[in-house]
Amino acid sequence: MTSSPRNTAMAIRRVKISALGTYVPPRLLTNADLEKMVETTNDWIVERTGIRERHIVEKGVATSDIAVEAAKKALAFRGIEASDLDAIFVATVTPDMLFPSTACLVQHKLGAKKLWGVDLSAACSAFLFALQNGAQFIATGAHQRVMVIGADVMSSIIDYTDRATCVIFGDGAGAVILEAADEGSEGNSFIDFLHEVDGSGGGSLYMPGGGSLNPTTHETVDKKMHYVHQDGGAVFKFAVRKMADVCVQLLEKNGLKGSDVDVFIPHQANLRIINATADRLSLRTESVVINIDLYGNTTAGTIPLAMQTAIEDGRLKKGSLVLLASVGAGFTVGATLLRWAY
Ligand SMILES: CC(C)(COP(=O)(O)OP(=O)(O)OC[C@H]1O[C@@H](n2cnc3c(N)ncnc32)[C@H](O)[C@@H]1OP(=O)(O)O)[C@@H](O)C(=O)NCCC(=O)NCCS
Repeated sequence: MTSSPRNTAMAIRRVKISALGTYVPPRLLTNADLEKMVETTNDWIVERTGIRERHIVEKGVATSDIAVEAAKKALAFRGIEASDLDAIFVATVTPDMLFPSTACLVQHKLGAKKLWGVDLSAACSAFLFALQNGAQFIATGAHQRVMVIGADVMSSIIDYTDRATCVIFGDGAGAVILEAADEGSEGNSFIDFLHEVDGSGGGSLYMPGGGSLNPTTHETVDKKMHYVHQDGGAVFKFAVRKMADVCVQLLEKNGLKGSDVDVFIPHQANLRIINATADRLSLRTESVVINIDLYGNTTAGTIPLAMQTAIEDGRLKKGSLVLLASVGAGFTVGATLLRWAY
C-alpha cells in the first residue's frame, strides 16, 4: 500500500525564500563621528575592520520597530498580509525587553492575527538558526508561510567609550518569508545546513549584566555590565577558522567546491574574516558579498542585509547557488546552502 506525501505525517517538502525586506535606520554614525568620541582614526577602523559607517537608531526606536519595517517590505514584495503568515521567528540579541518576546511585539505592530512567534537568541548566527527553525515547519507541512526576521539594535548595548567594540557594531534588520518550493523542484530551494555551538567560547563575547546571573543593580551598571564585552583577538581567531571549516564541510558533504558557489553571503563582522574565508574556500572574488563598509556588524541583521545588497547589484538571481555563513557569540556557527528562488 502506498500513501501520497500529503497523507504522511512528516511529508518533507522543499523550502524556499519567497520574499526579502530590509531596513536600516536613517541616522549615520561615521568613522569621522567616532574619531570625535573615542581615540581612533578612520584609517585604523577601515584597515582593521573594513567599516566606514554604520546606521544607528534614534532614542526610543527599538528592535521591534526596525523588524516591523523590514517585515512590511517583505510582505509587500510577496503581496500578502501579515495575517497570511503562520509564524514569525525573530532572531535577536537585543530584544525590546526580556519579555514579552519581540516576536509578540512585531505580531501586534503588524496587526497580524492567528499566528504564533518566538524569539531566538544565537547572536550573529541567530538569523541562520532561525531560518532553519522556520524551514522545518514548512518542510513538514505544518505551516504554509513562516517569516524569519533578523534584527538588532546593537547601539543599545554598546559602550561608546570602548573603542574596541563601538567601531564595529551598527543597527539593522532583515526579514524573509519561507514557503514550500514547487513540487520536485531542486532549482529554487534549500539544500542543506550545518550548525554548531561551542559554549567554551562564551567568555570571549558576552553581555554579563541584566540576566538571572547578574540582575541589574547600581553596581552592575557602574561596572558597565550591561554592555558588550569582547576579547576581539579570541573571537577573530575562532571566526577565521570556523567560518571556513563549516563552509568546507557543508560544501564537501554536498559534493561541491568553493568555485561552484555563485553567491557567498557571510556574516559581516570583519572584512579580514570574510577575506580569509573566501581565500580558504577558493571562492571567486565576484561571488563574495561585502557591505560591512556601509553597515558594520548588525548581528542578526547582516545576512539579510547582504542578501539585499546582492539582489540590488544583480548578483543574486533565480537559481543562484548561495552559501550563507556565520560565526557569533556563544560561540555559534552556521552555514546554509540554497538555490535562490526568484
Ligand atoms: C576588535 C578587532 C577589530 C580588533 O582588531 P585587532 O587588529 O585584533 O586589534 P587588537 O585587538 O590586536 O588591538 C591592537 C591595538 O589596537 C588598539 N585598538 C583597538 N580598537 C581600536 C580602535 N578603534 N582604534 C584604534 N586602536 C584600537 C588596541 O587597543 C590595541 O592597542 P595596544 O596594542 O596598544 O594594546 C578585531 O579583533 C576583531 O574584529 N575581532 C573580531 C570581533 C568580532 O567579529 N566580533 C563580532 C563577532 S560576531
